[in-house]
Amino acid sequence: MMKGLKKWRLFSLLAVMTVFLSACGEDYISTLKPAGAVGKEQLNLLLFSITIMALVVIVVSFLYLYAFVKFRRSKQGENHMPKQVEGSHTLEVIWTVIPIILLLILAVPTLISTYKLADVKAMDEVDEEGNKSALTVNVTAKLYWWEFEYPEQGIVTAQELVVPTGEKVYFNLKAADVKHSFWIPSIGGKMDTNVENVNKFYLQFDKESKDLEEGVFFGKCAELCGPSHALMDFKVKTLAPEEFENWVASMQATEGQTASADSADLGEATFANSCLACHAVSGVGASGAMGPNLTTFGDRNRVAGVLEHNKESLEKWITDPESVKPGNLMTGKYGELSEEEISAVADYIMSLSVEE
Ligand code: CUA
Repeated sequence: MMKGLKKWRLFSLLAVMTVFLSACGEDYISTLKPAGAVGKEQLNLLLFSITIMALVVIVVSFLYLYAFVKFRRSKQGENHMPKQVEGSHTLEVIWTVIPIILLLILAVPTLISTYKLADVKAMDEVDEEGNKSALTVNVTAKLYWWEFEYPEQGIVTAQELVVPTGEKVYFNLKAADVKHSFWIPSIGGKMDTNVENVNKFYLQFDKESKDLEEGVFFGKCAELCGPSHALMDFKVKTLAPEEFENWVASMQATEGQTASADSADLGEATFANSCLACHAVSGVGASGAMGPNLTTFGDRNRVAGVLEHNKESLEKWITDPESVKPGNLMTGKYGELSEEEISAVADYIMSLSVEE
């Protein structure tokens, strides 16, 4: 009876795990379904190492079972004394040399990939006109949001990284406050963002995100950075090169855009009085703002990185950011707003967009 029950418990546990783990295979967030050359190379390394390790497990298990069955006392007789191999040089050499060979087989492709993926020389290359030939994005991680600056294009955005497909995109990674880690699971491995130095690497985005379930890849902070670490999400929109050029042009066209405190629109006026000191509404600029740039807010996929993208979520966030992201730096930075002002300012922020 008990045994039967235990078996069913195991089955239900497996069933629950199937439900939970099934989301791990989604192509917008899974390392196992890479959508770029870097992720593919890293997955191949992973599979290669697992294959070697699995072979070792299989061979050792087989030898163990073989010895276990073949040399049973019932088969060998009570008085059988096996051959004594203590201190055998041959065996010592065999089980020292085989692991060394396996480690060498693992080390060669791992080292080649490590050096290849860390090669950021192309970041400094320029074409005949002196323009940088590769796209570089400066990423700054902040408690608990992400800023993306495109120095060559003179634009800056936040929370949603926009990149072209089919080319290497180079990243300068740093943190403004504490250590974070920049990770887009389906595109490539993570890299720390530090306060004291700039880490560099490149990624390649080979799939347009518009075909994905939510139209974006998911990015995460992968370094425990405070109470809202698990909520420090960002999204990645990958566009065909010509669409990316259009996006850059519409971002550049927002130069000088601002909110006026004298506006007849209550939302804009409220924004100018309470939000503009920290949040820019023009995409032209450099990194270093207090709060996320909101120029593309209406085009984004989430509110505050985690909430569903609608006015209701935005009102919730403005009313009480602490309840959404504990420890965030927006809480208490602006005076009490009336319900009418919150509704109006939410409408205004949702209307900010550079995409048609
Ligand atoms: Cu930032 Cu975890």
